Amino acid sequence: MQDKTHLVDDITGHRRMRRNRKADWTRRLMLENRLTVDDLIWPIFIIPGENIVEPIAAMPGVNRMTVDKAVEAAKEAADLGIPALATFPNVEMNLRDETGSQILEANNLINRTTAAIKKAVPNIGIITDVALDPFTSHGHDGILRGNEIVNDETVDQIVRAAVLQADAGSDIIAPSDMMDGRIGAIRRGLDAAGHQSVGIMAYATKFASCYYGPYREAISTGGLLKGDKKTYYIDPANGTEALRDAALDVEEGADTLMVKPGLPYLDICWRMKEAFGLPVFAYQVSGEYAQIKAAAANGWIDGERAMLETLLCFKRAGCDGILTYFAMDVAKYLAKQG
Ligand code: PBG
Repeated sequence: MQDKTHLVDDITGHRRMRRNRKADWTRRLMLENRLTVDDLIWPIFIIPGENIVEPIAAMPGVNRMTVDKAVEAAKEAADLGIPALATFPNVEMNLRDETGSQILEANNLINRTTAAIKKAVPNIGIITDVALDPFTSHGHDGILRGNEIVNDETVDQIVRAAVLQADAGSDIIAPSDMMDGRIGAIRRGLDAAGHQSVGIMAYATKFASCYYGPYREAISTGGLLKGDKKTYYIDPANGTEALRDAALDVEEGADTLMVKPGLPYLDICWRMKEAFGLPVFAYQVSGEYAQIKAAAANGWIDGERAMLETLLCFKRAGCDGILTYFAMDVAKYLAKQG
């Protein structure tokens, strides 16, 4: 009498996980996570000039845009319901120097972008980075003195830059430089300047990763970078250190936390959400984007499904949102689904 069915029931004690997966309607009913347009932050690249949109070879489908074009793109993003943009400038080479002094120009490229978008599209959030790398002649995120990226002098400069960015209309300052003490210093600087409502999204755990390659092409820092960023970014081997670093950002007043890169660091996203309960964001960085695009272009992977699956996995890992170069594609896809 012992047929195969009884054998399995004996083994599982009559529990069968597949019952809940048996039909489309059961699967929809049991769904734990869903990606929506409200989860998206769109990083964009800005160039000087007018009426130019130029492709970035290592990031197929992603362009650099002049401010006027960025305003149009911001309108399109807002119409699709994307909550916020993150802006990154590709600064003219002749304006880059050892200390990244151009970041202290009130009317520099990143601040001109913020002001123009805020004026034309007031209902989209603007998140700006205060790291020095787009402004330095050596591509580092801080001030280089001899062989050292000096911490405190860099913090002093990025606080002043953060205030200028807030003056220009930035809603959230997102420092990606990993200097010690920067979150507390920026908070004090913003508050002293009357910017109490400007938030801070800490790049709480930024790893010394290979996945930033295409971004460095996008803002022309790749060829400039001397050495590596290991004295300030976190070693990919270290999860506990990442949590300690994030804890300091929380104590110093971060409003939200970010993990960067994204997919290889989902464990960090989860641990951070569990540990602090603050909103957690992941940055699906340029190399992650390029991998999917390259495999899809070769017909090795279904690019659309990979985009949707990777973004959904961030939600499952506890993220409240994702910075992704796919933002417009996903938003359009979700709008079509209704
Ligand atoms: C540096 C910065 C990086 C990125 C954004 N700002 C990393 C780097 O160049 O070291 C990477 C973004 C991406 O790869 O998409 N402050």
